[in-house]
Amino acid sequence: MDKNRVYIFDTTLRDGEQVPGCQLNTVEKIQVAKALEGLGVDVIEAGFPVSSPGDFNSVIEISKAVTWPTICALTRAVEKDIDAAADALKYAKHKRIHTGIGTSESHIRYKFNSTPEEILERAVKAVKYAKKYVEDVEFYAEDAGRTDNEYLARVVEAVIAAGATVVNIPDTTGYCLPSEYGAKIKYLMDHVQNIDKATISTHCHNDLGMATANTMAGILNGARQVEVTINGIGERAGNTSLEEVAMILKCHKGIGIDTNINTQKIYPISRMVSNLMNMPVQPNKAIVGKNAFAHSSGIHQDGVLKNVQTYEIIDPHDVGVDDNSIVLTARSGHAAVKYRLECLGVKVEGEKLDKIYKDFLVLADKKKQVNDDDLLVLAGAERTEAHNIKLDYLQVTTGKGLKPVASIGLDISGEKFQAADTGNGPVDAAINALKQIIRRKMTIKEFTIQNINSGSDDMAKVHMQVEFNKHVYYGFGANTDIVTASVEAYIDCINKFTK
Ligand code: KIV
Ligand code: ZN
Repeated sequence: MDKNRVYIFDTTLRDGEQVPGCQLNTVEKIQVAKALEGLGVDVIEAGFPVSSPGDFNSVIEISKAVTWPTICALTRAVEKDIDAAADALKYAKHKRIHTGIGTSESHIRYKFNSTPEEILERAVKAVKYAKKYVEDVEFYAEDAGRTDNEYLARVVEAVIAAGATVVNIPDTTGYCLPSEYGAKIKYLMDHVQNIDKATISTHCHNDLGMATANTMAGILNGARQVEVTINGIGERAGNTSLEEVAMILKCHKGIGIDTNINTQKIYPISRMVSNLMNMPVQPNKAIVGKNAFAHSSGIHQDGVLKNVQTYEIIDPHDVGVDDNSIVLTARSGHAAVKYRLECLGVKVEGEKLDKIYKDFLVLADKKKQVNDDDLLVLAGAERTEAHNIKLDYLQVTTGKGLKPVASIGLDISGEKFQAADTGNGPVDAAINALKQIIRRKMTIKEFTIQNINSGSDDMAKVHMQVEFNKHVYYGFGANTDIVTASVEAYIDCINKFTK
């Protein structure tokens, strides 16, 4: 192992994909996996195969599609999980099983109703079992952040003796302070006899906003693998952001530790993941947020104009932010659209490209310039093609002093339906009209309109959560017409529970 290098273990497709509403289909997961390979990650955690046939199949297909990174599959310390992981990894060129168990007092007592000794035995047994299938076995001590260091060191030593090649020390609840987490890693480096036989990994959650700081504390104290996700997505408040760790190490050369990340590919993959998962990136997000390189105050603008280094520690080009990204118009050809999509990590050809190009021309007619986000939305539009319920037409009359009225047409499995209604606003009228056709008790729980970047002709993106039968369903819609985008997001939700 190169001590001056930290290995990047990406878990966007496992921890990231666990986020409600962020689920991807296998084709989309392959697209992300290939982009991660291009980015230069060392390990891709591709899923939790025993959890569902979809996850199992995705691990198989990602294993086939990806060449260089190690493909990793998650398991509990349970034989049937490990069997499923080994089976799903059969086509991977480099494979790893990631098994583990909770080690904190509360996990041992409340989750497993067990004892520390029994948990230690189960941990060792799981590693030995996984070792029958693969050479590369990673062990995670879930909730290590709140696990007593002395006991944790015993577990780590035992699993390394059993054959673990990597040991993951998750701060599962995002509780640790950076000083505490760094000290934990140092304690393990100093007290585990056989520590030189394995790589120590960080896996930090962001519940208190300390995931990146904790990961850095881990690296500074000896961890040489970091578990991260694109845009920091993941359970609850998310995981450590890949882009933040990669850029910290790039900016702080004095630390003397490198990654294999091609940082110029960071921004395109960030956009791709955000678009495919319908998960907006907060504008002030470090490195990839819309405002990350925008200087708005007069004093800052003045400084930047005199010398960019006054307020800019990162050259936007270093993370792939491309000033020329808004260049497509109605006069752009097939090849330009194909090329721009390729720059964004999306490879399309044949009929699919023709369809995207057709939609592009329609959009370019409505907008003067089609930007990268618009293109990614068009590239993902096929996800609605298999829907049973489609919006046929929508007409809304609204304005000051008028009661908004909407008439709507739906195509439900080829049959046409229409209805009209009023509401307290145009969206309300349109949804009331829709509910005349689909008579179910549905409640909107969340409704976000995003991304009007550049003028009143821009494309609106709507994210919506609709509750039906005590479950919440996530939907997305994009259109230059905000009301249509809203109704499409609503229909996207309905399609999820009427599948
Ligand atoms: O946060 C966590 O502890 C995890 C483990 C399953 C690695 O995601
Ligand atoms: Zn996690």
